[in-house]
Amino acid sequence: MKIGIIVFSKTNNTFSVADRLRVALVEKGLDAEIQRIVPENDDPGVKSPIVFANKPDVSPYDVVIFASPVWAFSLAGVMKEYLEQVASLEGKRVFSFVTKQLASKFTGGIKANRQINSAVALKGGTVEKSFIVSWKNKKREAEIASLIAEIIKAI
Ligand SMILES: Cc1cc2nc3c(=O)[nH]c(=O)nc-3n(C[C@H](O)[C@H](O)[C@H](O)COP(=O)(O)O)c2cc1C
Repeated sequence: MKIGIIVFSKTNNTFSVADRLRVALVEKGLDAEIQRIVPENDDPGVKSPIVFANKPDVSPYDVVIFASPVWAFSLAGVMKEYLEQVASLEGKRVFSFVTKQLASKFTGGIKANRQINSAVALKGGTVEKSFIVSWKNKKREAEIASLIAEIIKAI
């Protein structure tokens, strides 16, 4: 079973969580790796169509975990556009998480995860579980630990 953690991260918060998840999965003896989504221009104001300097291929993976920041109360446009272009997710197990700054509800995490769910459904997949990590939350470490534990338990 091959696990791909497909990450977009501009300031490395999301990447740091993805890397902790990767290390935890590998420690459990699982075959997990990170692939970064890299746009040529990662300015949040960049207009569609976004040109990708690296557009990860999901086809080698049995389990795919998508990870992205929240931008402007929504899924970051880079991840949104990547998911529109990604290959079929049929037959794969899919998980997702987003990171955001604000701890309070209604600051975009729920919406961003819903956007991932809809985009994944259009590619024939279903997100089994999704998570939110709030960077300014005092409980951030607990959120990260729980995300890692729940994904390991589910896999
Ligand atoms: C353009 C932009 C818009 C953002 N909008 C939100 C937002 O609506 N809600 C929020 O909680 N955080 C928002 N943030 C903060 C990021 O979601 C947060 O810092 C995230 O962890 C960054 O992830 P990264 O380091 O992987 O890029 C925004 C950041 C940027 C750059």
